[in-house]
Amino acid sequence: MIFWIAAVFLGIQLIPVDRENKAVNRKDNFVDIYKTPKDIKVILKNACYDCHSNETEYPNYAYLAPISWAVKDHISEGRRYLNFSEWGSYNNDLRKNAVEKTISSVRDLQMPLPSYIGYHPKANLTTGQRKAVEEYFQNLKID
Ligand code: HEC
Repeated sequence: MIFWIAAVFLGIQLIPVDRENKAVNRKDNFVDIYKTPKDIKVILKNACYDCHSNETEYPNYAYLAPISWAVKDHISEGRRYLNFSEWGSYNNDLRKNAVEKTISSVRDLQMPLPSYIGYHPKANLTTGQRKAVEEYFQNLKID
């Protein structure tokens, strides 16, 4: 029995997981488009980019199946909702919606995902950092 569990565990390690990051094009990149100030950029990078950009940094545990599948699912789903690297491809409605959702999800502690914070202390935003993100997105001019 143990043998088969071990065999299956080893076997699933061979299933490829696509961890490739697409190249980031500056003209589509949120922080380049809006010339986002450094402090906000750092917060987004530390707390959001792993799931909402093409600059994902994969943690070591993301290389071990089946954890790697769960990690990849979060990333694919997060990117589908919001990808700061592909902001340039969003129309104004999508942008406004993303801005509103960003403000509310950061304020209501829904983002970054609580399960992620435990493994990523830098994503454990202080109240001040959350306020700064809120204010920045509130003042963003989209037209
Ligand atoms: C560990 C991955 C992960 C991190 C880190 C993360 N998100 Fe998300 N985010 C998701 C996933 C998955 C979804 C889609 C499902 C959901 O809403 O829970 C999502 C959804 C969203 C949405 C869309 C919500 C909606 O209802 O349309 C916004 C906006 C968002 N995230 C903003 C952020 C911001 C801003 C940060 C950083 C402060 C962040 N997220 C960090 C995974 C993540």
